[in-house]
Amino acid sequence: MTQVMEKTNTASAERVATVVAALMENIRDVMVQHKVTLGEYAAAKQYVIEVGRADEWPLFGDVFFESTAEKLYSDSLGVTGAIEGPYYVPGAPELEPPYVMPMRDDEPGEALFLSGSVSGTDGAPLADAKIDMWHNDAHMTYSNIPYPDNRELPPPFNLRGRFKTDAEGRFEVRTACPVPYEIPKEGPTGALLRAAGWHAWRPAHLHLIITAPGYVPLTSQLYFEGDPYLDSDVATAVKPGLILHLEKHEVSERGLDRPFLTASYDFRLARA
Ligand code: DHB
Ligand code: FE
Repeated sequence: MTQVMEKTNTASAERVATVVAALMENIRDVMVQHKVTLGEYAAAKQYVIEVGRADEWPLFGDVFFESTAEKLYSDSLGVTGAIEGPYYVPGAPELEPPYVMPMRDDEPGEALFLSGSVSGTDGAPLADAKIDMWHNDAHMTYSNIPYPDNRELPPPFNLRGRFKTDAEGRFEVRTACPVPYEIPKEGPTGALLRAAGWHAWRPAHLHLIITAPGYVPLTSQLYFEGDPYLDSDVATAVKPGLILHLEKHEVSERGLDRPFLTASYDFRLARA
């Protein structure tokens, strides 16, 4: 979570003292409760040094703690959102209707038409709302991300695009359906997951940021029913209200030469 600056603030000294004191006290309590040894303390200290050296604090934070901050934030607004995660890149191509996400000619993955609407929590449809969408490809890779392994990257801004709702507040976009995503495991975050016996998977997901004048920007994600990782997301960011029902279309319609999927979702934004 790095881009949406509205969510960051400068805390007062009193707030820092209160929250940081509670945090320290809880860490000490865990150490006492579990009789943490000096050796374990030294290993933990070395571990946080390694997370910094590998530049993995964004990954570590977003995997283990962003969902908690996000839920508090969304609940306070009365909206359903989800974490931004570490892979948002501003400046994605602005699409023209009919909207198709930037992709390669032979982009792997099933064709998915996502349609839906954007409205206020009061029900007012929002015309011209901006939707900024990004997701990984069928090789579990996001474009524009310097991965620690030497994997081949898709073209810049592949599967990243911006589009708008129409006069009725509705939209439809075609993309290549993402697959479950395994977070990079080579670094210290992966080492911790391994050491604890936890897997590194997130269910397949679409990321979206929706903005409209006079409304609070909504950062969200959409998941797919039947995904094997809905109940064990490593980033604990799945909410029941964000799971899409997929309709499979076996016959070719819409000028496509292969089967395709459709899904629909209605976004609701809080008034600013
Ligand atoms: C991480 C990756 C994601 O794609 C995401 O949505 C959230 C977190 C991560 O690697 O930390
Ligand atoms: Fe993601």
